[in-house]
Amino acid sequence: MSIYFLYKNTWFSQNDIIDKKKEKKMKLFKGLLSLAVAASLSLAADYVIKFSHVVSPNTPKGKAADFFAKRVQELSHGKIKVEVYPNAQLCGDKVVLRKMKFNAVQMAAPSFSKFTGLVPQLALFDLPFLFNDAEHLHKVLDGEVGKTLLNMVNKKGYVALAYWDNGFKQLSDSKRALIKPEDAKGLKFRVMSSKVLIEQFKALGAIPVVMPFSEVYSALQQGVVDGQENTISNIYTKKFYEVQKYMTLSNHGYLGYMVVMSKKFWNRLPADMKKVIKQAIKEATAKERIWAKELNDSQFEKIKEYADKTGKLQIIKLTKEQREAWVKKLRTIYPKFYGTIGKDLIQKAIKAGE
Ligand code: SIN
Repeated sequence: MSIYFLYKNTWFSQNDIIDKKKEKKMKLFKGLLSLAVAASLSLAADYVIKFSHVVSPNTPKGKAADFFAKRVQELSHGKIKVEVYPNAQLCGDKVVLRKMKFNAVQMAAPSFSKFTGLVPQLALFDLPFLFNDAEHLHKVLDGEVGKTLLNMVNKKGYVALAYWDNGFKQLSDSKRALIKPEDAKGLKFRVMSSKVLIEQFKALGAIPVVMPFSEVYSALQQGVVDGQENTISNIYTKKFYEVQKYMTLSNHGYLGYMVVMSKKFWNRLPADMKKVIKQAIKEATAKERIWAKELNDSQFEKIKEYADKTGKLQIIKLTKEQREAWVKKLRTIYPKFYGTIGKDLIQKAIKAGE
């Protein structure tokens, strides 16, 4: 016999209660089981790689890191476990490079700008309007210049494994539409820690503010800075577009990553496991380039949809002449970096696009 009772306008039977209790217990059991499985996988693995990054999982780098983790697990038959920590959950990029030195974190893929304190030549990629397009950029990354820069990072106590793409950066702000370079005058822009990026905004008469990625959204929301520069995938996944009024499709600079491993950790790996890492990186890198293009394109459509629907964001597409004015203004900073980046390296990169 079932007992029925009324609760908040709904009749329940005794069985409902029992089922609910069972359901709760099952949920708890499943939760504990997945924790136990995760813990046992870590325990069963001979090596654990903590892979730290600062972006969302649904970005080119986020997807590639997750794919890499899966492939390493498969290829090593569980001997290596890769734990991916997105969204700066573990630490920011500045800290991560220090932590990797003593193997507290084993892998990361910071943007080139974040390496410039270590290898100033990597600021090459921050130079505004250096690359004609993605094809030109890839020629530089995959060619002699790219190899030289990987070696420079290797010499600093890391194992440089690959270049991962994101894309070209766009400008956004909350004060006025950025159509002419002069429109940026007096505005505060968040930048990554790179002397080139600081100089770039100074050339516009703007005020650059160096800030970690994880703080950008609230800085934009609270008006600590007026604007920022980033790729579409970062602007979309971190919702910067929701706290900005204008976005100029400037494609003025490139944002890419170098995937690095702690040298201390690498040196401990046996030859067969090093092979696994190299294979998984090769596969992840090939996929990452495709995802970078796809995600930046599809996420742009989503931002556009938001702009059209809400009217809260104005997207500015520069004419050829308008863009030319930005190119002319911003390329004036190149000679300032002939010393630190090297005139030779800059010229080689330019030549690759001719
Ligand atoms: C990233 O894409 O890893 C973050 C870049 C930034 O700090 O703006």
